[in-house]
Amino acid sequence: MRHLMSPLDFTTEELDKLFQLANDIENNPKKYAHCCDGKKLATCFYEPSTRTRLSFEAAMINLGGSVIGFSSAASSSASKGESVSDTIRMISCYADICAMRHPKEGAPMVAATKSSIPVVNAGDGGHQHPTQTLTDLLTIRSLKGRLNNFTIGLCGDLKFGRTVHSLISALIRYENISFVFISPEELRIPEYITEQLKELNIPYEEVIRLEEVMPKLDLLYMTRVQQERFFNEEDYIRLKDFYILDKAKMSLAKDDMLVLHPLPRVNEISVEVDDDPRAAYFRQVQYGVYARMALILTLLEIEV
Ligand code: NCD
Repeated sequence: MRHLMSPLDFTTEELDKLFQLANDIENNPKKYAHCCDGKKLATCFYEPSTRTRLSFEAAMINLGGSVIGFSSAASSSASKGESVSDTIRMISCYADICAMRHPKEGAPMVAATKSSIPVVNAGDGGHQHPTQTLTDLLTIRSLKGRLNNFTIGLCGDLKFGRTVHSLISALIRYENISFVFISPEELRIPEYITEQLKELNIPYEEVIRLEEVMPKLDLLYMTRVQQERFFNEEDYIRLKDFYILDKAKMSLAKDDMLVLHPLPRVNEISVEVDDDPRAAYFRQVQYGVYARMALILTLLEIEV
C-alpha cells in the first residue's frame, strides 16, 4: 500500500505516468466516470481549506465514488483530545482512501504509519503540499509541453509557503531548471533549501525586487503571505502587500511567461491581470482536479 507524503514519493517516471493519466482524464472524462463506484474518500481537514478539500471531493465524485469527512479540527473528535493515530484507525474502517490536512508538520506521516488505507498529505503546516505540486507540475507540463529548461521565479512568502517548498523539491529532478527567489528579507527561502541547491549545483538567485527579474522568467509562481503562520500581526500587516503583480509589471515579462498561483489570492495579483492570456492560475485549479483523480486511481491501484 502506498501513501503520498512528499512529491518525491513518486519517481519522475511514475509522475510522468500519472500526468499522462491526468491528461487522458481531461480528454475522456466519461471513460473514468464509474471507476470508483462504491469507493469512499475521507477528507480529514484539521485546518481550513476550500480548494484542496473541494478539489479532492470533486475528484472522487467525478470517478463515481463518494466522500465523508470533516473540515475543521473543531468539528472532529480532535476537539475532545483524540490523537491523529486513533482517528486514522477509525477512518480506515469507514473509507478506502484518506486526504489529511493538519497544521502540524508530520501529522499525516504519523497517521500513515497507523493506517490500513492510503493516506495523502493535503498540506502539513509549513512543510509540504504534494498534491498542489502535482497540480503545478501538471499545469506546467500541459501548457508548456515540458518540465525541463525553465527559469522559474517564486515570489512572496518563501519562508512559510509549503507549496513553494514542495514545488522546488520536485523541480530539481528535472534538467536545466534555475530558480529566482523573490521575497522580502523576512520571508526568504529557508537555508536548508538553498544548501541543497548549492550541493546539487543548481543555479539560483535571491532578489527583493520583482521588476528587475521579470524579463528573464519563463514561469512566475506567486504566493500569498501566510498570515496563519505569523506570530506577530504587525509583521503580517507590514509584509502582506509587499508584492502586487499588475499590468505594468506584466508588460516587462516574456510573451509566453506563465503566471501560476496555488490560490487563495489576497492582494498579490491584481484582478486586472486575470484576463492576461499568461495568467494560468484558474486553469491550474482545473488541473488540480485531474491530478487528484489520477492520484486516487493510482493509489487505489485501479486500472482503466
Ligand atoms: C495553499 C496551501 O494551503 O498551502 N493553498 C492551496 O492548497 N491551494 C496555498 C495557500 O494557502 O496560500
